[in-house]
Amino acid sequence: MAREQWGSRVGFILAAVGSALGLGNIWRFPGVAYENGGGAFLVPYLVALCTAGIPLLILEFTIGRRYRGSAPVAFRRIHRNAEFLGWWQVAIAIVIGVYYAVIISWAAWFAWFSIGRQWGEDPERFLMADFLQAGDLYDFGTWLPGLGIALALVWVATLAVIGAGVKKGIEASSKVFIPLLILLFGALVVQSLTLDGAVDGLNAFFTPDWEAIRGPQVWLAAYSQIFFTLSVGFGIMITYGSYLKRKSDITTSAWTVGMSNSFGEILAGIAVFAVLGFLAFETGVPIDEQSYQGVGLAFIAFPAIINTLPYLAGLFGVLFFLSLVVAGFASLISVVEVPVAAVEDRFGWSRRKAVAIVGGGMALVSVALFPTVNGLMLLDVTDYFINNYGIAVAAPASIIAVVWVLWKWKELRDNANATSVFKVGPIWVTCLGVVTPLALTVILFLNVRDLVTAGPGDANAAYHQYQAFGWAVAGGSLAFAVVMALLLRRKETPPFVTE
Ligand code: PHE
Ligand code: NA
Repeated sequence: MAREQWGSRVGFILAAVGSALGLGNIWRFPGVAYENGGGAFLVPYLVALCTAGIPLLILEFTIGRRYRGSAPVAFRRIHRNAEFLGWWQVAIAIVIGVYYAVIISWAAWFAWFSIGRQWGEDPERFLMADFLQAGDLYDFGTWLPGLGIALALVWVATLAVIGAGVKKGIEASSKVFIPLLILLFGALVVQSLTLDGAVDGLNAFFTPDWEAIRGPQVWLAAYSQIFFTLSVGFGIMITYGSYLKRKSDITTSAWTVGMSNSFGEILAGIAVFAVLGFLAFETGVPIDEQSYQGVGLAFIAFPAIINTLPYLAGLFGVLFFLSLVVAGFASLISVVEVPVAAVEDRFGWSRRKAVAIVGGGMALVSVALFPTVNGLMLLDVTDYFINNYGIAVAAPASIIAVVWVLWKWKELRDNANATSVFKVGPIWVTCLGVVTPLALTVILFLNVRDLVTAGPGDANAAYHQYQAFGWAVAGGSLAFAVVMALLLRRKETPPFVTE
């Protein structure tokens, strides 16, 4: 049977942009940028975008299209010993999918809570005590049905889209999600800029702190933000590239996806800080004492802001939380597609069987583990370790393998250039083969050194157990990859279908 393909070029770009635009833009970028030098962060950010993000996007699209397979099959076709790289990426995608869905389900609840501001006067208390019922740090026994059911629905919807196929499911849903997201988020940005204090917020956000960008952790933050936000380094863009038609342009698509995503990131930064400026204006709490990232930003600061909005408060809340849901949903679809396509390609399973077993398995783990009173801590730790020691290690490992060990860069360069208007050359391969791996090696070394002395987040007793869990997840993903590759050593890949 012929491999599934995208229906049109626009459809492919929308799907890739749908994967890129996600929670990373809305709730990760503004906070990461603010905490790492504000306006000055744009320097490491742009360096990481141009030396790692876009070159890697081009590389992954080309690998997918050239070898016509999701990550494990593509790497196996590059070299029989390289298959573990693909499974490593699959493992990271599985971990990300399992916790990413959780945030979407919370955002869906909060879109509903926005109507009538059901969180009451004290949003922090509401989140922790009422919604998450966070209590004893070791308590995993209590499963919260409200959270669990919403999460299960997120999974059902995701698996339904993936089950419908590349063109009728993924592509068709992106054609709805992206315009919807532009509408919702556009309205939100406009409304946020009309608020008192918005300008002060923007000043706080963009004021450069040049001292800050000297530290290694700022550069690690920039590189890991780029991998996460562009969905590169964990098989997504290889998988999406594998559904490209042979003659499709690669480099222009990569730039389009990269620029759209960064545009979304800057816009989110503007909206978030305009609104934080308003909160400072209303409450007198200075901007630098607020929470700008992750759970605290989305589920505590935003509800507090919505409580003080002079008009259309409920609408603002619905816009914000639905933006999170829509942006997150298209990303979740892309990440679950990675393991689904991997077993489809590698074991010859039908899409339905792969969705049911692999997607269903991920859903079960997610629904069993996270709607508990400790879901929040689990989520934070997993997010930190998989991003900094999963993606940030796996991505350079595959680059080094492809460029240096297997010496495939010439072939891939020519393959991309043959159908692309903008050609890549020495700069591209230098960025990939030298700048990115070297930068990441130095950065990771310095960062691990810092981490050994001081952990991220809470320094309480339970924290160390969670940290051990984090290392286990990061290390386990590599172990899984090696085991899969060894088990499949003698099993050849299916015949190479060229068109
Ligand atoms: N690019 C996504 C974002 O910015 C990252 C992502 C994609 C995360 C897919 C998980 C799954 O949010
Ligand atoms: Na993104």
